[in-house]
Amino acid sequence: MFAIIPKIPNISESMDIQEVLKLAEELIYDHTGENLDYMQKTILQRTLEGQTYKKIAEETYASETHVRYIGAKLWKTLSEVLGENITKTNFRTILENASIYNFAPVFCRDNVTSNINICPSNSRASPTKTNSQQTPTQHIINLDKAPEIINFYGRTEELSTLSKWIVSDRLRVISLLGISGIGKTTLSLKLIQQIKTNFNYIIYRTLRFSPTLTTTITNLLEIFAPEIETSDNIETLLSQLQKYLEKYRCCIIFDDVQKLFATGKLSGQYKSGYEDYRDFFQLLVTVSHQSCLLLISREKIPEITKLETENYPVRTLILGSLGAAANEICQKRQLANRESWEKLINNYQGNPRWLEMVATTIQELFGAQVAEFLEYETLILPEALQTELEQQLQRLSSVEIKVMEQIANQSKPISIGEIINKLQLSIQESVNLIQSLKKRLLLDRQSENNLTVFTLNPVWKQYLKNKREIE
Ligand SMILES: Nc1ncnc2c1ncn2[C@@H]1O[C@H](COP(=O)(O)OP(=O)(O)OP(=O)(O)O)[C@@H](O)[C@H]1O
Ligand SMILES: [Mg+2]
Repeated sequence: MFAIIPKIPNISESMDIQEVLKLAEELIYDHTGENLDYMQKTILQRTLEGQTYKKIAEETYASETHVRYIGAKLWKTLSEVLGENITKTNFRTILENASIYNFAPVFCRDNVTSNINICPSNSRASPTKTNSQQTPTQHIINLDKAPEIINFYGRTEELSTLSKWIVSDRLRVISLLGISGIGKTTLSLKLIQQIKTNFNYIIYRTLRFSPTLTTTITNLLEIFAPEIETSDNIETLLSQLQKYLEKYRCCIIFDDVQKLFATGKLSGQYKSGYEDYRDFFQLLVTVSHQSCLLLISREKIPEITKLETENYPVRTLILGSLGAAANEICQKRQLANRESWEKLINNYQGNPRWLEMVATTIQELFGAQVAEFLEYETLILPEALQTELEQQLQRLSSVEIKVMEQIANQSKPISIGEIINKLQLSIQESVNLIQSLKKRLLLDRQSENNLTVFTLNPVWKQYLKNKREIE
């Protein structure tokens, strides 16, 4: 079992010497604007290791008086930064004790009660409110409405790819795409655990309720500077935000980006009043800053795809099946017939949410017997899954739905030519529709005898077939 948010005491307990050192270095840099030199670093490190000034002097070939002098200056600077009297003996403790709350990773989220440090929503992540001496070197993690992660299986490769892109390659914008329930949100929250020490700020925000860009940026600015005078002018807000993204290393995660797109239209068209997000995303790719924006979406984000082809520091990861790690879902749900698990996982695309739903049906109606559940020729779709698919279908344009239905009717994958014939569409219209469905990750492309053909995943196919039979 994996609980993503440790309690604050665990954070300090787990701080090793390198972390304390890094924190001290950042605090001093922010206060003085200067990096530590070799002597200062050695004094900090050896002090943390419990060494005497005499020993440090021997190691650095300096006089003990000089080491003491440099050490005293360091403690004075840290005392100014932290507002506490720092000495060689209390240095580590002070950085690790309760006052660390103000500058070590701060985890905040609303409405969550278990094993999480809860900060009042208006004061949390507002360092200047909790400590006026606060330096801007905090490592603040503000998760707002992120769901709590209870279980986490697999995804090792995806985590290492994303970490590399974000931490080592320093890409400015990354899009994490995948069909509903495949595990995008969960993966991003797990990722935070891995990359948190590399950032001053990690902020998660869902766009599920379609906030305007002005609301979103104002909200971000309030995290960076609670007392800031926010403006109604989007350009002013953008300039203010850009300043923080340049000054600090921030990782901002926007989840559910597809909610910015209009329903009933082809994919990737912004809702009226939300078009400025397009410029915002573009801006974060094209202007220089030291932060990273992770965009999570069920659909491709057009400007990201475009900039990716132009070699900007932007990349896309499409999340697929959970693979063999999905066995752990079957295990946890105490399903029987282990030999049938692989088929079950493949049938439901290794989609953890779909598998959870199916596991409930297998438990409730099939006595946990997977083999019995799989005996039927048609794929069984739990009601919750049907509801989810229907909601997604309703976001499509009416012609897209027709194409989906047509493809579901076919026993074999279908070519663009066949779609044109069967639906009496122009080539242009067909291409637009296929492209749109592909951007929504609903169509799979295959090649058959030098002909490109398209197919739907079996769950969607089954759902549309069932729907046609009922109607
Ligand atoms: N790696 C994983 N290990 C275990 N469970 C997982 C994993 N990934 C996702 N899940 C579970 O699957 C469900 C769906 O995951 P999640 O909400 O992350 O999907 P999503 O891709 O963000 O879906 P949506 O597009 O609807 O937002 C959740 O209940 C989550 O706990
Ligand atoms: Mg999600």
